[in-house]
Amino acid sequence: MPSKAIIEKLKKIQTPFYFYDIELLKKTAQTAINEAEKFGYTIHYALKANSNHKILKILSAAGFGADCVSANEIVRATECGFNPKHIAYAGVGKTDKEINTALDSGIFTFNCESLPEIENINSIAAKKSKIADIAIRINPNVDAHTHEYVTTGLEENKFGISEWQFNEVVEKIKSLDSVKLISLHFHIGSQITDMKVFETLCARVNEIQKIFETLGIKLPHLNVGGGLGIDYKNPDANSIIDFKSYFEIFNKNLNLYDGQKLHFELGRSIVAQCGSLITQVTYVKNGRQKNFVITDGGMNDLIRPALYRAYHKIKNLTSSKPEKIYDIVGPICESSDCFAKNEMINETQRGDILAICSAGAYGEVMASQYNLRELPKAYYSDEI
Ligand SMILES: Cc1ncc(COP(=O)(O)O)c(C=O)c1O
Repeated sequence: MPSKAIIEKLKKIQTPFYFYDIELLKKTAQTAINEAEKFGYTIHYALKANSNHKILKILSAAGFGADCVSANEIVRATECGFNPKHIAYAGVGKTDKEINTALDSGIFTFNCESLPEIENINSIAAKKSKIADIAIRINPNVDAHTHEYVTTGLEENKFGISEWQFNEVVEKIKSLDSVKLISLHFHIGSQITDMKVFETLCARVNEIQKIFETLGIKLPHLNVGGGLGIDYKNPDANSIIDFKSYFEIFNKNLNLYDGQKLHFELGRSIVAQCGSLITQVTYVKNGRQKNFVITDGGMNDLIRPALYRAYHKIKNLTSSKPEKIYDIVGPICESSDCFAKNEMINETQRGDILAICSAGAYGEVMASQYNLRELPKAYYSDEI
């Protein structure tokens, strides 16, 4: 819960808007970096979670590399202080224009998702007389046990290269002069809360490294992606996720070669808890079956509940009355424009200010102007 002084300041700002707790962001970033450094691991922050300039500047200063999924993200990361040599670039559909930009920027790796993509990067690099460092993104066929829309490591998903293709891909890469294989890459999904999934991933990565050894390949880097989930139900109690236990799983279960560097691509776990969507109650509508709280923020501002039926804790910042049960909904003419069903919050009236918590990841970046609504602005705890 923000302090009384902060709530007084938030009340004066035009809603809806994103509010970022910068102290929490810095603390989270430092904890993640410190825990990773204990094992010599590198974290590339996944810009897709939040590519807000101020947040990126804080994270580049804290020592993160970057994980990008578009050329525009590469440009943004570089503008905000990330060293291009620490940028990994993923995505199933990199266009020629994007590959050109990435080559000109001098990034760390292209995480390649198919044979045609590798051939295309090779021919674009050849025209520039460059050699592109690449990783093969492996589809390890490991179930992340998370929402189907953010599961990426099953063979039915569009991502990566499967085991039956390894031989052909390795032979092809050996025949190409303008790409150099330096890493394998894995990313099996997002909002993973069952830590056993990461143990399973490690076991599978060990198997796959062995298969590559039989093909004569031992690589200097390994990238196990992101996916570490956060506690949406109890954001105050668990505002910083247990990075220590997470990295220990990899240290205990992964067989790295001597000198092989391990890379991560964490997004959500770094930025989710520091952000809230602040919205004002326009009306309270009492029905026979349900009481609705109608807010001025909508699914265009924060789409996760509509897209994934994601849960976000909601707090009424301006009421201390006893709690009541409401459906908390936005103003847009879609029944999916609903932030929470049967949520218990302090009794609410028109004009109250609500905080939709844990919205720092996949929130502001996914906002749209649907219904010609304005994009939400961002405010920061150290500037208001
Ligand atoms: C390739 C890749 N790496 C990293 C991430 C970041 O994942 P998360 O925010 O769950 O840590 C994603 C997100 O889905 C991704 O697609």
